[in-house]
Amino acid sequence: MKKLFFTALLICGIIHANAQNDAQIRIGTKNTDLIFKVGKDNRLYQAYLGSKLAGEQGSIKIPGQGHIAYATFGTDNLFEPAIRVTHNDGNPSLELQYVSSQTEKKDDNVTITHIKLKDPMYPVEVTLNFKAYFNENVLEQWVEILHQEKKPVTVSNYASAMLHFDAAKYWLTQYHGDWAEEMKMQESELTSGIKIIDSKLGARAHIYQTPVFMLALNAKASENNGELIAGTLGWSGNFQFVFEIDEKNSLRVISGINPFASEYNLEPGKAFVTPSFIFTYSNEGKGLASRNLHSWGVKYGILDGDKPRLTLLNNWETTYFDFDEAKLKGLMTDTKTLGVDMFLLDDGWFANKYPRNGDNAGLGDWQENKAKLPNGIGHLVKEADATGVKFGIWIEPEMVNPKSELYEQHPEWVLKLPNRPEHYYRNQLVLDLTNPQVQDFIYKLVDDMLTKNPGIAFFKWDCNSMITNGYSVFLKNQQSHLYVDYVKSLYKVLDRIRAKYPHLPMMLCSGGGGRVDYGALRYFTEFWASDNTDPVERVYIQWGYSNFFPAISVCNHITSWGKQPLKFRTDVAMMGKMGYDIHVSGLTANELKFTQDAVKNYNRIRDVIWHGDLFRLVSPYDENRAVLMYVNSSKSNAILFSYTLNTRFG
Ligand code: DGJ
Repeated sequence: MKKLFFTALLICGIIHANAQNDAQIRIGTKNTDLIFKVGKDNRLYQAYLGSKLAGEQGSIKIPGQGHIAYATFGTDNLFEPAIRVTHNDGNPSLELQYVSSQTEKKDDNVTITHIKLKDPMYPVEVTLNFKAYFNENVLEQWVEILHQEKKPVTVSNYASAMLHFDAAKYWLTQYHGDWAEEMKMQESELTSGIKIIDSKLGARAHIYQTPVFMLALNAKASENNGELIAGTLGWSGNFQFVFEIDEKNSLRVISGINPFASEYNLEPGKAFVTPSFIFTYSNEGKGLASRNLHSWGVKYGILDGDKPRLTLLNNWETTYFDFDEAKLKGLMTDTKTLGVDMFLLDDGWFANKYPRNGDNAGLGDWQENKAKLPNGIGHLVKEADATGVKFGIWIEPEMVNPKSELYEQHPEWVLKLPNRPEHYYRNQLVLDLTNPQVQDFIYKLVDDMLTKNPGIAFFKWDCNSMITNGYSVFLKNQQSHLYVDYVKSLYKVLDRIRAKYPHLPMMLCSGGGGRVDYGALRYFTEFWASDNTDPVERVYIQWGYSNFFPAISVCNHITSWGKQPLKFRTDVAMMGKMGYDIHVSGLTANELKFTQDAVKNYNRIRDVIWHGDLFRLVSPYDENRAVLMYVNSSKSNAILFSYTLNTRFG
């Protein structure tokens, strides 16, 4: 009874189909409105997206019908659909009519709206869901597809969001790259027809294109001026953004999982839930859009986004695979000497039959390598504790080297095609996460390590291969589910890990920044932006990420890359979550003193960087310099970083 009453209180508005004609559904934040209308044909239309309109719901008059909110394929839509369904009788069309809309107020800041649509002839229901974050001016959109047909239906397109714009011109900024060159910005005017930004890589899916974009309306937006949306898909796999300008110069933007090679056969009664498309609208330029996403990210998008982070010394670049207990003990002492919180042991600590002494063997065999670590991880945790630092460790649980015991014992756990040679990326293959046994294996790896060594304070979770030879023994005749189910299965494992270890800090890494998105960041406290730590290059890479992700989530390490002095390297790393990966013993006395002071300095100012507002003042894309400023919320403290970059090309 009590529960019923509570539910009734939270549901603050239901609009039913019988109130349909001209009914408006308003999804609003402090400064933005997204308004839908139910047309006389009982279809749902996007009537408005932009700055907040004056007036209460109902009193706002929006001229015209707008654009079909979630376009289907097969009836009268002539452009790219948001959804395409083939019914169990072979009918390849879908018609969606408005049924009802329901709004729940979660708390003072968050409101969720569900708009239910239904095919009048077939028992297929599509619910468009919107979460409005009032103060952050962020909207999150996802879709649920459900049917009660007798047999499975095939869903070939299943967008998370479809948005429409009517402007004179459209300017798209995309963020592309490669290993060590992540997040390069490119801005271009959209022309008529279709532009697609996507990934088909399966895992490490964002190494060439990150699932983020900015779209400016009418004219290019600057940091402080211009109308735009900044959007991103919370999905750690194949994604697709479609930008289509029609004959009337209207633009539709369709965002979601990449439907490429991914037709989904949906069982009756089983919901297909898309990932979230997250976006913000700004009419004060890109800077405000980024600040909106930062405040949202810290509060809602990233695990423990509002909690402190650990500074660290990592051994990857100082030792690579070549270390033993004595070396690591020395590095722990260095960690203490620098004054950072944690020593992070990277790749190379495991495997015995095929020891992990290079990237060509051992991946998948998660037993301590007896030659390097005769006393096991437990001993290292104790050593770290005795030295007065925390201990973190690297894993890459989704992947396997063919030269490993795991591969020998479970070839059926590996994604690879029958009757074809194997293709490797970094000498490795991807495990079939759709197989529950593999999910258990990964969960158990993490759980066993933490159960045996509760002192482990941090994981770096790497993922270095794309899906090559994508074929799952487990999925049998449902191979087209692989790309979707891989990511959903990864999230299942992470859900289990987070149920038991809700706050253990974990770094999301994928051969540099090959997997950076808000779907994964629900489980991770931070991400490794790039293996490129040359500070000049890093200014550009971090600039790119800063458009969508808050500084607290971006791990930056001071290393020996580049020709810049230590001060330059340190400053660049400070613009995020600072760490080290250097030979401490190679520092001069002055450099060591400088570094120790820098760590203290960072601890003093980091709150402004982590939780302040970012103002990008001079872009390295416009000049041979970059200037960025972080300002705390009360505007009493600001930190300004200014770099000269004209040494970039000699
Ligand atoms: C790729 C990561 O980006 C690096 O930081 C390092 O962890 C290596 N993998 C280890 O193999």
